[in-house]
Amino acid sequence: MRINELKIFGGVGKDGQTEKVYEFTLKMGDVISIVGPTGSGKTTLIDDIALFADNNTPTKRRVLVNGFSAPEEFMNDPSKNPIAFITQHTNFLSDLPVEEFLGIHAKIRCSGKDLSVISETVEFANQLTGEPIDPKNAMTELSGGQTRALLIADAVIIGNSPIILLDEIENAGIDRTKALELLRRYEKIFIFVTHDPRIALLSDFRIVMRNGAMIKTVYAHDEELAVAEKIKELDDLILHLRQLIRDGERVDGVVLEERLLSFV
Ligand SMILES: Nc1ncnc2c1ncn2[C@@H]1O[C@H](COP(=O)(O)OP(=O)(O)O)[C@@H](O)[C@H]1O
Ligand SMILES: [Mg+2]
Repeated sequence: MRINELKIFGGVGKDGQTEKVYEFTLKMGDVISIVGPTGSGKTTLIDDIALFADNNTPTKRRVLVNGFSAPEEFMNDPSKNPIAFITQHTNFLSDLPVEEFLGIHAKIRCSGKDLSVISETVEFANQLTGEPIDPKNAMTELSGGQTRALLIADAVIIGNSPIILLDEIENAGIDRTKALELLRRYEKIFIFVTHDPRIALLSDFRIVMRNGAMIKTVYAHDEELAVAEKIKELDDLILHLRQLIRDGERVDGVVLEERLLSFV
């Protein structure tokens, strides 16, 4: 089944009050964020989406696919489920080398297709993480950042999932600006649960959560995109400092002051 859009209808927050956001629509190609304090219901919201909730979860939300309740095969047959869900806790249990692991997945997902998808997947992952993955490495040897990068690449390229949910993955060694740039080239729906200002500001819109409820939708605009650029520069400065310290160098306070002054 080809997915054109998802429509999410609000239900109730923790206090049983109707959510302020009555509905929102996701079209293929959209990148959105879910933001809010810890415990505000972000994971619950993407869980509802992953379950194609239909007034059958505690939140009473509904998710419609192309205007209708999701077909049962989405939940009953993993090969028909259009959603890939990546969380902080996702880990590979396999100690196979990366290339063999991807090869097995590729054989299952794209039977008969060219196995060049394996190198394509590793290349994609290596654009997301600062520490390149060697396809000969065992899956269990990968760092947190490498694992997350490989999971995203695997979901996008081999899994070819049209909807990808990411629950707070940003602190794990992923280049966020690069990731968003790359992901936008694919006609998919990406939903980020995030505390990362750059991901939130570069999204098409963000849903703000409070006390279990969606309270607000904030759409992207030019001023915020400019702020995202500034944040990237600040992040790059932090990365630069980290590299200096890692290399055993001293940090020059005067140079740092000069760089910081360029931000005001
Ligand atoms: N709309 C809701 N109704 C009832 N309980 C909720 C609702 N939203 C969240 N919760 C509960 O609140 C707790 C925190 O939610 P969670 O989604 O884990 O927050 P976050 O991911 O933002 O930290 C969980 O126990 C969850 O079941
Ligand atoms: Mg959470």
